[in-house]
Amino acid sequence: MRHSGYVPDRCHSTLILSLENPARSDYTDNEKALVKVSMNKNIEATLQQFDALMRDKTSSLLGYPINTSKDYRTLYRFFDYSLINLGDPFVPSSYRINAEQFEIEALRFIAGLYRMPAADVWGYLASGCTESNLYGIFLGRELYPDARLYFSQDTHYSLSKIARLLRLPTTVIRSQTNGEMDYADLETQLRQHLDQAVIINCNLGTTMKGAVDQVERIVAVLKRLNIKRYHLHCDAALFGMMLPFLKGAPKADFTLPIGSLAISAHKFIGTHIPCGITLARKRLVKKIETPIEYIGTVDTTITGCRNGHTPLFLWYAIKTRGRTGFAREANGCVARAQYLAQRLKQIGWDHFINPFSNIVLLKKPAPSICKKWQLAISHDWAHVVVMQSVTKKRIDEFISDLHN
Ligand SMILES: Cc1ncc(COP(=O)(O)O)c(C=O)c1O
Repeated sequence: MRHSGYVPDRCHSTLILSLENPARSDYTDNEKALVKVSMNKNIEATLQQFDALMRDKTSSLLGYPINTSKDYRTLYRFFDYSLINLGDPFVPSSYRINAEQFEIEALRFIAGLYRMPAADVWGYLASGCTESNLYGIFLGRELYPDARLYFSQDTHYSLSKIARLLRLPTTVIRSQTNGEMDYADLETQLRQHLDQAVIINCNLGTTMKGAVDQVERIVAVLKRLNIKRYHLHCDAALFGMMLPFLKGAPKADFTLPIGSLAISAHKFIGTHIPCGITLARKRLVKKIETPIEYIGTVDTTITGCRNGHTPLFLWYAIKTRGRTGFAREANGCVARAQYLAQRLKQIGWDHFINPFSNIVLLKKPAPSICKKWQLAISHDWAHVVVMQSVTKKRIDEFISDLHN
């Protein structure tokens, strides 16, 4: 078989298969080189197509809380290393190709935002907020093996999965119409099980409506019922990097008796690679740690090997934007969400927005519009999450689609 010029795909596969067959050694170096070049061209063409598709999809995202706008090019060189953070980030392991120094610095920054007492600062970067939630609830269950888990109807689906994983008895609390927990129902439900310890998941921003459960009101209920054996976990997936910067937002930090808190770093911060920020009080984590000789550190996290690149991305985001940058972005997103609500009002489109939220709930548009703008749906409703890259121009284009 002799080839010249373009070689069709089918011939490629035959030749590639033959090259893998040691019995067929009659191909010249030129032929082998030709296959390599053609294969590379095919690979490159596929990658270029994918690049164009991703560029297009990125420019039309409205429905999911992902900050798509950051440039991490300067970090690409670190993909040459097998960066793996192993075990507890605060206790060095025997594996040294890691980015734990960046993980610790990033965690300290977030712990500072949440006013964690210095002696209690602990956390780790997980695969996403689901794992960070799992960690928080797992910690509560380990501290109180007889615990019952409480969360509201508007809670992210990861919590019921976590309850199943941990085989935790669960009570779902009614939500108010704005999506916030109904504190009266919480009290009623807690009264039914006063013999059991309590784990409560508190939403600092619900997925669909962007409602914030008020930690202080939950704590007041626990006090009123004289419940002492409890673990409070906060799911702050998206709002975790917004609420600390919004004036007048409900108080939610470690000066309150919160045990653990979870934030998605790929959402508001936009690490591009999924990443969950887990914070938990060190004195609680100490009670469940196990020393492991094989890794030379203690086992405190859910997974063993953890992504060593995301800590770099997170650290870089923090260093280049800092408190001032995050504050500007958070307030900008909330302001543009208000703008979207205003525009929907102008065209008479049914909608709802909570205070301190960049999520606008709206009556579900036609399927073609939902598809074009990648809208998340719940029953008759959809939502737009106004992230950093959702400009007024993009909002106006969306309104024009709805109006026509
Ligand atoms: C409130 C809430 N919690 C948890 C999650 C899960 O986060 P992840 O996708 O990072 O696992 C989400 C995701 O949208 C969320 O909105």
